[in-house]
Amino acid sequence: MTQKTLLRALAGETLPTPPIWMMRQAGRYLPEYRATRAQAGDFLSLCYNSHLAAEVTLQPIRRYRFDAAILFADILLLPQALGADLWFETGEGPRLSTITTMGGVQALKSKDDIHEKLGPIYETVRILARELPKETALIGFAGAPWTVATYMIAGRGSKDQGAAHALKAADRATFSALIDVITEATIEYLSMQVLAGAEVVKLFDSWAGSLKGQDFTDFAVQPAARIIQALKARHPGLPVIAFPREAGEGYIGFAAATGADCVAIDNSVSPEWAAEKVQVSGCVQGNLAPEHMVTGGEALVRETKRVVQAFKNGPHIFNLGHGITPDANPDNVTLMIETVRAG
Ligand code: CP3
Repeated sequence: MTQKTLLRALAGETLPTPPIWMMRQAGRYLPEYRATRAQAGDFLSLCYNSHLAAEVTLQPIRRYRFDAAILFADILLLPQALGADLWFETGEGPRLSTITTMGGVQALKSKDDIHEKLGPIYETVRILARELPKETALIGFAGAPWTVATYMIAGRGSKDQGAAHALKAADRATFSALIDVITEATIEYLSMQVLAGAEVVKLFDSWAGSLKGQDFTDFAVQPAARIIQALKARHPGLPVIAFPREAGEGYIGFAAATGADCVAIDNSVSPEWAAEKVQVSGCVQGNLAPEHMVTGGEALVRETKRVVQAFKNGPHIFNLGHGITPDANPDNVTLMIETVRAG
């Protein structure tokens, strides 16, 4: 049996060509995505329409033959299942009802009551498990508690996560209680994705970079460790990718401290640094700057080769340092993949 290359890299194997996928690979840069989203009506309707969500997950697999597919959904569906209101303002991003008091945390739904709302997401996973090519791995995901909490507290995205930092400073009990509720619900949510057919799960901590010192340990490392330990107890051998984005020095030892099998690296650090400091301890994913998918050309080829070269002596999953942007040119993705696969 030839195992899927993504699973081999996650098991610690150094492969001649790294498996490839891209964060936000199903997205607005693809005309077929825009057409399916229009058919669904809007982004959230697309997330909750299992057949269309499976369709957009499969689009980049058909077009590019990526080695992994990532479930099409969003990290903010979990807060919505916990009882928060969620909507997307066109051209601006997500909006949620805010939580800033202990009463607000206590009014959230119990972790066992999230599945009704999230049922269509599990159905998307089941469809994908049936329909993906046999060599393509299926990745499920959730937001990490800190990142999800930043949206639940502020009611929107923010550059500095100021509202969440303010609550953490002013009312640590409420802040910690919210982190606990999200942590417990995330275990149930990811566990159901695995039962539905996800072979790997990824935790997105997009705002981990704004947690410093003890806060990084308490709110990035500890919740991830709790989630990963609980998932591996229920699903022995389940590979987990952790993405503490812009953690910098915090990347060092993150896999060992959390039990993650792979650490995803953003493009604020060099691949040479990450190979020396992080890949020495296991598999890494990353870390080409997403801008190259917009600008293309010689620089794309040179930097793609540089990432492959830097990580070639250890287990590596080729990816961007963050999500591909809507203004990317689909032909540049082809050029990147050809460059990686040419060795
Ligand atoms: O990677 C994938 O292709 C899988 C699907 C996925 C989406 N969001 C689809 C999406 C995943 C894994 C996410 C994660 C996510 N969502 C994160 C963590 C990763 C990161 O990017 O840092 C965060 C912070 C969110 C919250 C979120 N969702 C924001 C802030 C936005 C608006 C910004 C934007 O890009 O418009 C979204 C919307 C969103 N999620 C889109 C997609 C494809 C664009 C929606 C559209 O079609 O209009």
